[in-house]
Amino acid sequence: MTTLLQFVFLFYFLLGAVSSAEKDDDVLVFTVATNETDGYKRYIRSAVVNGFRDKIHVLGLGETWKGGDVHRTVGGGFKVNLFKEQLRPYKDDKDKIILFTDGYDVIFLSSLEAIVEKFRTFGARVLFSAEEYCWPDKSAESRYPSVGRGKRYLNSGGFIGYASDIYAILTSSKLSDGDDDQRFYTELYLDRDFREKHQMKLDHRSEIFQNLFGGVADVELRFKGNDAYLQNVAYNTVPLILHGNGRSKLVLNALGNYLANAWSPEEGCLNCWDEMIELDKAKVENYPVIMISIFLANPTPFLEEFLEKIYKQAYPKSKLHLFIYNNVPYHSELINEFVESYAHEYKSVKQILPQDDISEVRARDFAFEHCLLKKCSGLLSIDSEAHLDNQNALKLLVEQQRGIVAPLLVRPYKAWSNFWGALTDDGFYARSSDYMEIVQNERRGLWNVPFVSNCYLINASLINNKETRPSYSVGDLDVSMSFAYSNREKDIFMYVSNRVEFGHLVSPDNFDTKLTNPDLYQIFDNKLDWQKRYIHENYTENFNPNKTPIQPCPDVFWFPIVTTRFTKELIEIMEAFGQWSDGTNSDPRLSGGYENVPTRDIHTNQVNLEPQWLYFLKEYVRPLQELAFTGYFHDPPRSLMNFMVRYRPDEQPSLRPHHDSSTYTINIALNRAGIDYEGGGCRFIRYNCSVTDTKPGWMLMHPGRLTHYHEGLLVTKGTRYIMISFVDP
Ligand SMILES: *[C@@H]1O[C@H](CO)[C@@H](O)[C@H](O)[C@H]1NC(C)=O
Ligand SMILES: *[C@@H]1O[C@H](CO)[C@@H](O)[C@H](O)[C@H]1NC(C)=O
Ligand SMILES: *[C@@H]1O[C@H](CO)[C@@H](O)[C@H](O)[C@H]1NC(C)=O
Ligand SMILES: *[C@@H]1O[C@H](CO)[C@@H](O)[C@H](O)[C@H]1NC(C)=O
Repeated sequence: MTTLLQFVFLFYFLLGAVSSAEKDDDVLVFTVATNETDGYKRYIRSAVVNGFRDKIHVLGLGETWKGGDVHRTVGGGFKVNLFKEQLRPYKDDKDKIILFTDGYDVIFLSSLEAIVEKFRTFGARVLFSAEEYCWPDKSAESRYPSVGRGKRYLNSGGFIGYASDIYAILTSSKLSDGDDDQRFYTELYLDRDFREKHQMKLDHRSEIFQNLFGGVADVELRFKGNDAYLQNVAYNTVPLILHGNGRSKLVLNALGNYLANAWSPEEGCLNCWDEMIELDKAKVENYPVIMISIFLANPTPFLEEFLEKIYKQAYPKSKLHLFIYNNVPYHSELINEFVESYAHEYKSVKQILPQDDISEVRARDFAFEHCLLKKCSGLLSIDSEAHLDNQNALKLLVEQQRGIVAPLLVRPYKAWSNFWGALTDDGFYARSSDYMEIVQNERRGLWNVPFVSNCYLINASLINNKETRPSYSVGDLDVSMSFAYSNREKDIFMYVSNRVEFGHLVSPDNFDTKLTNPDLYQIFDNKLDWQKRYIHENYTENFNPNKTPIQPCPDVFWFPIVTTRFTKELIEIMEAFGQWSDGTNSDPRLSGGYENVPTRDIHTNQVNLEPQWLYFLKEYVRPLQELAFTGYFHDPPRSLMNFMVRYRPDEQPSLRPHHDSSTYTINIALNRAGIDYEGGGCRFIRYNCSVTDTKPGWMLMHPGRLTHYHEGLLVTKGTRYIMISFVDP
């Protein structure tokens, strides 16, 4: 497979080889990394884009780390000892320049020549990076030489110097693998004679090395044309090597989304192409086996559509296992239907049912086990509110080849998404400076972020190793927080991609399953999904300027407005409520208690649908009114009477001629003339004009109180339902 990204790589390699061959033969770069972590890959990439990958010697790769847990305590003597070994051949070389950096939390921001050139201006034999805090012995503070401006204390995550001097430093005393490397170098530096002998200096003002911990406020991400760079505004320098020491890893990750050619304003994300693969449409065998794990932990609106979108993913089903966790009895029937219809197409389906009484945390662990059992290559974890509208979503995520990668999903019209750009000190949500731009797709790319949830692909290799497997139960954190926390603790990067539109989130916040057809009530919380399910597919055609609205009778307009699904669900809601009025003039629901032209009906406020209905009038009916009756504006429309009428021969089969107390009236047909009932329709007496071939989901709109005296025609068989509003009485 020759892909664009391989060309890009080749290009950078060649560039590196050419530019470095002439000059820096005398420079070697060392780092220590026992595992090819995400941070390590980022480090290597930054060397590649800066043209000196070939100069880098990685020590310890594949070896067991013996340096202690440098996360929480001291450690790192292991690094010194590995380095010492490798440097022996150059122990007497007074000219060769050696650059040492940490490997997991460092990004190169410039070419090696620029680094060396800058080093030469210091007049030092060995130059260490400097940081804000005196670590690990705070008590050593006073022994440091004072500095006018700049950071005072040595940091051992980056230094550069001549081979012979560095070798002398490394061999000046013994230390064991578990000892602290920074203490080791610090003691030598604080020994004045030793320091002067080897001309040891610190890079106080980040002319080469920028340590982020204690220095975050000193730096700003800036762009020069298409190139991102880091400006140290405290010392007016442009650092060449960036180190996310101590508790600054997340800041490093955020900056790493841009620096070292990771992203440019013009071309968008450049780091997306690294490692990307192309899944050949024709070759099913090229697709890695994925287990899609569906988690249905809470009642969720628009679940049918959710399942349908999973089913429609353009990924060969012979390469997909399904794992479905359902903890909501309300949804059991739907899940059963889905499984019965489609399970046989997948490689396998495993279900956990509400009656299994398994907690979500256990189910998630169980999904991991099951994925490994099925020899999956990746696990797509997806919560029931995550809608993958893009049929290629799964395929694109797999092609991205990251350990953990989430598609960006946002609640429509909101800033609520499935990632966080930054964290507060105590680990909760904070808005990053680029959050809104990412959420609104003004910046597209692949973003390394501290928190993803709802939907993500995890590479099985992370699950398969106890040291890297995400955890869903950390202390009293919830499932999503635990997941993200555990990954952060292990320095496993979580990416969110908005390279393309992947889908959206529905909001389950106000989903009341005690209602009949609760989705129909979701117009406020989930307008986009609501509209897709319930607004007629040709609704927008009503506004096509090349079309004249249909008028079956003078000033009676006829528009497609809702789907037949809507009409069916609305009838079900009313019939489930069942308290049809008795058709007499006495109506306690009205303020006067008297109805002049009574029908058998149920009002929307009796089924708690009134606010939704009024919003429907405002959003979907009012624009049609403005189209039909030019010059009349009333926003929002007012309507006190919104009701479904039921006509049937044995109850009330027709309605005598009358005026409506409205400026205009809408009348939506809810079932089928000639099939569900016979007869029926509406006759406008002044024009001797009847509309009898009404269509479900189509709305009649006519003036109310003067010209359009009308009657409900006789229903001779079956039941006819219509939905009426008297707008602007
Ligand atoms: C690092 O590599 C070692 C040796 O290959 C392996 O045993 C260990 O699990 C790896 N650790 C991580 C965090 O991947
Ligand atoms: C998981 O990673 C391995 C190698 O690291 C890769 O070959 C495989 O395609 C990845 N699987 C997925 C689903 O991305
Ligand atoms: C929408 O309009 C198209 C074109 O006139 C028609 O084929 C289609 O059936 C209409 N959709 C519905 C739901 O009536
Ligand atoms: C009304 O129209 C019907 C047929 O459309 C016709 O039979 C009838 O005579 C008309 N009535 C009047 C009063 O014009």
